[in-house]
Amino acid sequence: MKTISISTLNSMKEKGEKFAAITAYDYTFSRLIEQSSIEVSLVGDSLGNVIQGRDSTIPVTVDEMAYHTAAVKRGNNRSLLVSDMPFMSYSTDVKALDNAALIMQAGAQMVKLEGGEWLADTVFLLSERGIPVCGHVGLTPQSVHKLGGYKVQGKDEAEADQIIKEALILEEAGAELIVVECVPNSLGASLSHALNIPVIGIGAGADTDGQVLVLHDMLGISQRLPKFTKNFLTGKDSIQDAITAYGDDVRSGNFPASEHCFK
Ligand code: KIV
Repeated sequence: MKTISISTLNSMKEKGEKFAAITAYDYTFSRLIEQSSIEVSLVGDSLGNVIQGRDSTIPVTVDEMAYHTAAVKRGNNRSLLVSDMPFMSYSTDVKALDNAALIMQAGAQMVKLEGGEWLADTVFLLSERGIPVCGHVGLTPQSVHKLGGYKVQGKDEAEADQIIKEALILEEAGAELIVVECVPNSLGASLSHALNIPVIGIGAGADTDGQVLVLHDMLGISQRLPKFTKNFLTGKDSIQDAITAYGDDVRSGNFPASEHCFK
C-alpha cells in the first residue's frame, strides 16, 4: 500500500493530476476512506456540526480534535492525515506550539489553520519546528460571526486579489497546502495557478488541484446540504462505493460540475 505524503501531492500537482480529500472523524469511516484510496483525510473541526450537532465550529476544543485525530489515525495508514486546529487554539505563539504538538502527537501529519496574512508568523513558527501547516482561506468558518454568515468570499476583483495575496504570504511563510472554501470558480483557478503548493477547493470550482468534501455532506446525511456538495450515495450499494466514486469523480474531473460551483 503506497502511503500519501505531501511530496505525492506536489508531484500530482506538477503532473496536473487531481486528488481527493474527505473529512473523517472516527475509526470505522477512516478505514473506508483508506480502502477507497482517498489521498487526504481531514479531521475537520466541522465535527462540531456533524458529530456534536452544534451550529458552528467555534465550541470545538483541542482535546476533542486530538481524540478524533487518534481514532482516525487508527483506521488509516495510507492517506495524508491533516487535522484542524480549532478556534483560538493558535491565538498566541505558545498556544499554537503546544496545541499543534498535542494534535500531532495524536496522529496528525499536518495541522490546518484558518486565516490570512496575520497567520504568517504562526505558520513560520510551526513549520520551522517541524510541524507541517495547511492554510485555509476564503470562507473561514471559525470567523463566521465576523463574516456575517456562511457566504461566498472573493466575489469582486479586489477581494479576490486580496485572498490570492494572503495565500501567497502563507506559502512564503512555509505553508505546504492550502484549502480555499466557497469562492468563485475563477478565484479557485487563479489561486491554484498562483501558488506552487497544492490547493484544495471546497465550493471553489473544478480547477483547484484537489477537492475536499465533508463526509456527511457527500453521503447526503447532513441536515443542510450546501450547493457545492453532491450525494455520492445515490445509486450506490454501500458507503464504501460512494466514497470510491467521489475519489474517482474528482480524479477524472467529473466532480465538481457547474451546478456545484459559484460564478
Ligand atoms: O472542518 C472542515 O471540515 C473543513 C473543511 C470544510 C475544509 O475545514
